[in-house]
Amino acid sequence: MTWATGSGSSSPGEPGANNTQRKRTQMETKVLKPDEAALSLAAELLRAGQLVAFPTETVYGLGANALEPEAVLSIFAAKGRPADNPLIVHVWRREQLPALCEVTPLAERLMDAFWPGPLTLLLRRTALVPDCVTAGLPTVAVRMPSHPVAAAMLKACDLPVAAPSANLSGKPSPTAAAHVLRDMAGRVPLILDGGACEVGVESTVLDISGERPCILRPGGVTQGMLEAVIGPVDLAGSILRPLKEGEKALSPGMRYRHYSPDGQVTLVTGKTEQAVTKALRAVYEQAKGNGHRACVLCFTEHMAALRDCEPHDLGSRDDPAQVAHRLFDLLRRLDDEHMDVIFSEVVAPEGVGLAVMNRLGRAASFHTLEAETVLKQAD
Ligand code: TXA
Ligand code: MG
Repeated sequence: MTWATGSGSSSPGEPGANNTQRKRTQMETKVLKPDEAALSLAAELLRAGQLVAFPTETVYGLGANALEPEAVLSIFAAKGRPADNPLIVHVWRREQLPALCEVTPLAERLMDAFWPGPLTLLLRRTALVPDCVTAGLPTVAVRMPSHPVAAAMLKACDLPVAAPSANLSGKPSPTAAAHVLRDMAGRVPLILDGGACEVGVESTVLDISGERPCILRPGGVTQGMLEAVIGPVDLAGSILRPLKEGEKALSPGMRYRHYSPDGQVTLVTGKTEQAVTKALRAVYEQAKGNGHRACVLCFTEHMAALRDCEPHDLGSRDDPAQVAHRLFDLLRRLDDEHMDVIFSEVVAPEGVGLAVMNRLGRAASFHTLEAETVLKQAD
């Protein structure tokens, strides 16, 4: 399948139209099933310094040859990503690592236990890694994805591939090829369509370059899973709250508004499920009364009780992995539906639930209402 696109703001004759942008907006974007021909095309493009979007078990990535600065810079241009936010380098075999980073015994233990899979490790970098990959930091993020299409593509090109999530900067990460196309049409030559991503939230980012391992971004590999293998692991302070004024971000990505739909998301917490559903109904009705396009995100178990409140199904309250799997698709759907006010239930911030609450919290800029307070005010 091929989509020819003409999206973009500058037309060829427009005075002052930027050349690079013109070239980018006129690019044809192919969306291909990842058969052998598509994988060799992907490898050819990557070797030629071009971009390829590809599925991983977490989210879709936007890949380029990590060792070629120009190719890496075109990732930043396509996403509109700030240059001080470093990228993850993807490999398909561990033999690629010594060229990129110092592989410590602790790293080996973690790789034995969790690779291939949704765990990114921060290790001290070598001089071979371009500065634009690491944003000048002394560490480089490395990961071996388990998705068969990602593995096959990395094997076919046999290059370390720098790849952030394949969304426009600030938008929810893509968990389906259609999401990537929505953001990247006209900006990349090829999207490999590997269907929906299983995990649905990005990899766990673990810094093991310091004294004590520290999770900078929670993901599918949980703190408990890591501690079972290597002992105590810290959690970065800002996982469940915004950065404080002047606070240094351990991971530059945490500084930026992220995972956000266009509408304003508000989280509703409470002591009982009954109070939460009642409060969701109250704030939904109030927003409707004020003329907003409003909806609620709730657990499957509460869909019936909230059926008049445009409920969107987060998944089961007992299955945070299901919520993670659905979350970004749901947040993107809110934009398609032009929702401007969104109220959401929350999951317990434990296990994979911590990754869900990190993303949902940031989508809401951590704006939270307490059900009991809402209900008191409504009385
Ligand atoms: O699951 C994933 O990790 C996906 C797939 C495509 O692999 N990739 C992904 O990349 O989510 P990205 O660029 O959207 O997120 C990478 C995060 C950012 O928050 C970035 O700041 C952080 O990792 N990061 C990368 N290198 C770093 C470094 N050297 N030090 C601190 N943080 C780093
Ligand atoms: Mg991202």
